[in-house]
Amino acid sequence: MKLTREVCIGGTVVLVCGIVAAGIAWALLRSLDDLPPPSRQTLPVLDWWEHCVLYQVYTRSFKDSDGDGIGDLKGIIDELDHFVDSGVEAIWLSPIFESPMVDFGYDISNYYDIHHEYGNMKDFEDLLRKAHVLGLKVLLDIVPNHASIESEYFQNSEADEPEYRDYFVWAEPVWTDMGNETIRQPPSNWVSLFGGSAWEWSEVRQKYYLHQFAVEQADFNFRNPAVMDEIINIMKYWLDKGVDGFRLDALPYLVEAYPEDFNGSYPDEPLSGISKFSSNQLGYTIPIHTKDLLELYDIVYEWRKFVDDYKIKNGGDTRVLFSEAYANISMTMLYYGDEDGSLGTHFPFNFGFITDLSDKSDARDFVYTILKWLTYKPSGSVANWVFGNHDNKRMASRFRDDMVDGLNALNLMLPGVAVTYQGEEIGMRDGYVSWQDTVDVEARNRGNNDTYLQYTRDPARTPFHWNDDMSAGFSTNENTWLPIADDYTEINLAQQRESDTSHYKVYQTLTCLRKEPTLSHGLYDINTLSRETFYLIRRLKGHDSYTLVFNVGEEEDEVDLSRIPQLELPARVVTASVFSEVMEGKSINQSNLTLRPGEALVLKTSPVTDC
Ligand code: NOJ
Ligand code: MG
Ligand code: CA
Repeated sequence: MKLTREVCIGGTVVLVCGIVAAGIAWALLRSLDDLPPPSRQTLPVLDWWEHCVLYQVYTRSFKDSDGDGIGDLKGIIDELDHFVDSGVEAIWLSPIFESPMVDFGYDISNYYDIHHEYGNMKDFEDLLRKAHVLGLKVLLDIVPNHASIESEYFQNSEADEPEYRDYFVWAEPVWTDMGNETIRQPPSNWVSLFGGSAWEWSEVRQKYYLHQFAVEQADFNFRNPAVMDEIINIMKYWLDKGVDGFRLDALPYLVEAYPEDFNGSYPDEPLSGISKFSSNQLGYTIPIHTKDLLELYDIVYEWRKFVDDYKIKNGGDTRVLFSEAYANISMTMLYYGDEDGSLGTHFPFNFGFITDLSDKSDARDFVYTILKWLTYKPSGSVANWVFGNHDNKRMASRFRDDMVDGLNALNLMLPGVAVTYQGEEIGMRDGYVSWQDTVDVEARNRGNNDTYLQYTRDPARTPFHWNDDMSAGFSTNENTWLPIADDYTEINLAQQRESDTSHYKVYQTLTCLRKEPTLSHGLYDINTLSRETFYLIRRLKGHDSYTLVFNVGEEEDEVDLSRIPQLELPARVVTASVFSEVMEGKSINQSNLTLRPGEALVLKTSPVTDC
């Protein structure tokens, strides 16, 4: 196995240098592994993003270069090799733009400049250039739904400057006669995602403005063509600098019901009737007027047209748009646009592993969730799999520690794009952050000392564990913006790189394996083998087949491999969970296999002649 990995790392380097050299490395890999000659079958050429490993960098927590305890761009530059070493091909950076950091960058005050704690424009240009030299694509995280109230847009709008007057969603108050007094009330019962009314009174403008998230994040008015133009200007500015695309934030909230469509007033949302929610809590209403409105998709399709036209005008590789939308499956699929996914964003993030599965899920739930996406997605579009992000508990904490390798294997072996949140490659768990140390606006607004753990996103944002030095090698400062998780001496990159067996080594093996045509172009079949174990087999005519068997249960499980169609034993173990007793390289000849709780094996079998 070690040999294969080394050849792969060599292969990664030559890939940057050219296809011819990569071909030699590939041929070398084949001969070392004593495989049959490659098929002559011509496979369609995939665009760079269609089968990439996409890695989310949470900028503030990745690497601090200047000792202020906050991650920054020079820190990312210093660690660019980590992406190459991991087999990552594209990174997206959580917002790096100037921001008062109420929502840690998702409240942008200047979309055209770099946040001062993260560095400056030259640092960004260096980062981009150096990443490109290494063959890495770089995506930025654009927040089109809302801007910081400290932005010039909002300040000018609040001051009623004509050019900016309708940049945001402003509303007159509703006056209610209470007998001896008349009180001012918001125009509707809309509730913010971070708690409280979605309307905030402006003393300056003497109107309410809408904020679907924090009070400090004012929603743009997308019926104003000037706002549309400005978002395009912002994208163009960064594309001109050379970025390869964007993650688009919070798209379901782009458009809300407009008074002109409702007899001049903002319509109330229907009540959910769930008694545990008071009128200022998320869940009190059903968001039919503030989320998933059909009008938003036309806006998104215009953005796709813009990036496609940009490529036609300027040449170069495809610039991509990936959309963030927590929505039901039908509304999510609309972000793809049409049957070949060329109308909408290149894909909407698939959050099934976050929203639909947990440590309580069995094999049936996994298979069902995976097939749901593959079944609903437009036939010509590209799938993707998200296992973690900065808004949700880390993978190891949402599921179980013993499932880390199986989950990474699933991510890297399923068809389409694999999305990794920083730290998942080493199986980082959530850190503990006390109420006193809690800085997440959602937790501070919605929670208190007793309840904040239900809401807080800080534990998934604690700094990356580089090594077991002070502050986990993240910073030279012992005071970091969020505390370092206690387990950093146990779980860190340096130690996992040293060790013969580690989550990181498994991850590397799998990103290497991903370059096999079977994984980029092969068919898939997935099904349960028992209540707790399922398989995923990838097959391509004339090429080796690869099979993942994964026991997601908490008990030992004996399964029968002969139930996997077209799996012809013997099989060779390519990699296995770190605690597995099955050695890499071992040949499996018998169909009865006993898997420990959480155990996953990746098996290689001879080429199939017929798929
Ligand atoms: C989604 C982002 O991922 C999250 O961190 C942020 O708080 C909201 N959108 C609002 O921008
Ligand atoms: Mg710093
Ligand atoms: Ca909005």
